[in-house]
Amino acid sequence: MALKAINPTKTNAWKKLSQHFLEVKDCQIKQWFIEDAERAERFTVGADDFYFDYSKNRITTETMSLFKELIEEVDLNDAISKYFSGDIINKTEHRSVLHTALRAPQGTDLMLEGVNIIPEVTTVKDKIKSFSNGIISGALRGATGKAFTDIVNIGIGGSDLGPAMIVDTLQYYKNHLTMHFVSNVDGDHVNETLKQLNPETTLFVVVSKTFTTQETLSNANTIRSWFLESQLEKSVEKHFVAVSSNIEKVRDFGINEANIFPMWDWVGGRFSLWSAVGLSISLSIGYSNFLSLLDGAHDMDTHFKNETFETNIPIIMACLGIWYNNFFQFESEAVLPYSQYLNQFATYLQQAIMESNGKNVDRSGDRIDYQTSSIVWGEPGTNSQHAFFQLLHQGTKIIPSDFIAFAKPLHGNKDHQDKLMSNFFAQTEALMNGKSKRQVSQELEQQNISETLKNQLRNYKVFEGNRPTSTLLINKLTPHSLGKLVALYEHKIFVQGVIWNIFSYDQFGVELGKELAGKILDDFSSSTAGSHDSSTTKLIDYYKKLR
Ligand code: F6P
Repeated sequence: MALKAINPTKTNAWKKLSQHFLEVKDCQIKQWFIEDAERAERFTVGADDFYFDYSKNRITTETMSLFKELIEEVDLNDAISKYFSGDIINKTEHRSVLHTALRAPQGTDLMLEGVNIIPEVTTVKDKIKSFSNGIISGALRGATGKAFTDIVNIGIGGSDLGPAMIVDTLQYYKNHLTMHFVSNVDGDHVNETLKQLNPETTLFVVVSKTFTTQETLSNANTIRSWFLESQLEKSVEKHFVAVSSNIEKVRDFGINEANIFPMWDWVGGRFSLWSAVGLSISLSIGYSNFLSLLDGAHDMDTHFKNETFETNIPIIMACLGIWYNNFFQFESEAVLPYSQYLNQFATYLQQAIMESNGKNVDRSGDRIDYQTSSIVWGEPGTNSQHAFFQLLHQGTKIIPSDFIAFAKPLHGNKDHQDKLMSNFFAQTEALMNGKSKRQVSQELEQQNISETLKNQLRNYKVFEGNRPTSTLLINKLTPHSLGKLVALYEHKIFVQGVIWNIFSYDQFGVELGKELAGKILDDFSSSTAGSHDSSTTKLIDYYKKLR
C-alpha cells in the first residue's frame, strides 16, 4: 500500500503551529533558560552512546506537543510501518524502500511479493565477506600473482558518496589497502588517480546500480583501456568486479557473473552503502567492521520504530527542521561536525537530503505551495569557525545548525580534544546568548581607546544571538556509532518527506540536464549545432574553437 496523501498545511496542527509561531517567533531562547531550570533536561534525549540536546532551539513544550499532533494527523506511524515492511512507498518508481532490510539481523524474515528477501541479502553479505577477506589477506591475488595494494571504487552519486564518506570517516580502522574513489567524468580526476596506480596490484570495483551512468561507464572504460595497455585481456577478470542490479549490462561491459555483487531495485542509490555498494568499505576496514556499521544502523532503526515521539531523535530532528523551514522560513541548515574524520559528512548528506526531499509536487500529483527540503551544507569545526562562522553569528540570515562531536578522541590526545570540545560548547552557547549592546559598552569602557572610537565600534561588536542549534554528543567514533548516525539522518529525511507529502525516493530532477548533455555532446562532433538559445549556442561555439 502507498503512503497516505495528506497536505500538511491543511491539518489542524499546522494551523495551530502557525498561530503558535506568531506567539513565539520573537522570544529569546536564553530567556526560556532563565525561566525554566529544567529546560536542558526537558529537551535532551539519550540513546545509549548518543546524547542529543535540542534545548537551544526556538521551541517550547507547546511547540513540540503541536508537532506531536501534526505527526499524528499525517499518520506517521502508518508510514513507518509501510516503510519497514516493504510497501511500495516509492510509488512513482513502483518500488519498496528497504535499505533497512540490509541491516536487519540474521534470522529476520521480510516478505516481498511472497518471497523472503533476507536469505538473498545474506548470500550477498557472505560473498562480500569472503571476497574482502580474500583480498585483505592476500589469498586472492592479481593476475600476475601479486597481492593487491590499491582499490579503486568507480561510481558516482550514491555509488560513490556513501562508501567514500564511510571509508574516509573510518580511516582510523583501515587496513593496509589504499582506497581511491573515481567519480567525476572530468578526465583529470581519473588520470590523477591512475598516476598513483600499479595495474598488477590494483583492484577496480565498478559500482552502478543501473550500469547506465555516463560518468561511471566512461571512467570504467578509460581505466580498462589503461589496464590493457600493460596487462592481458584475460587478467581483467581478476582485477575488475562490479556492483549492480543490472546484471546483463555488467556482462555486456565484460565482467563475468562470478565477479558481480548484486543489489536490488528496492535499494535507493543514495541509501545503498549498506548493500554491496559498501564493498569498498568492507575492503577498507574489514568485514566485521562493516557488519558493526550495519548493526549500528539497525540500532537506530529500532530506536526510530520503537521510541515514542518525546524520545525519538530522528522524529524530533525532522520536526525542528520543518519548524525552521516552513514557519520561520529559514532556507538552509548547517551540519557542523567537530571531528575532522567527518569531513565528507555534509557532502554525503547533501545528496541524501536534497535529492530525496527537493521536490515540488505532492503525493496527489499537485504542485506544492509550501517549502520542502532546506539547503544543507557544512564543514568540520574548528576549521569552519575560521571560514563561515562570521555569517552564523552576525549575518542577516539565520542558519539552524547541528553540532556533532565525539567525546573520546581516537588517538587519545587529551590536550587537543579539550580544546576542540571547548570550541564545540562555546559556539552553541555564543550563538544562543549573543552579546548585547550593554555588554559591548561595558567591555569598551575597559579599553584604553578614545570615546569616538568606542562609539564607532559599538554596533559592530554586538551579537544578536537567539540562533538555534542542536547538539549531538556521541561517546566515540566507531563503525557502530557511525552507522547509527547515518541512519539517524536517513530517518529524519523519511519523516520530513512524509510530513511534506512528497515522494522522497525518486529523483526525476536529475534527468533533464543529463538529456540535454547528451544532445550537446552530439553537437560537438557535428558541424551544425542543435537548436539552443543564443547564449548556449555561443558558448558551445566558443568551446569548440578552444578545445
Ligand atoms: O544522480 C542521479 C543518480 O541516479 C543517483 O540517485 C545515483 O546515486 C547516481 O545517479 C548513480 O547511479 P548509478 O548507481 O545507477 O550509477
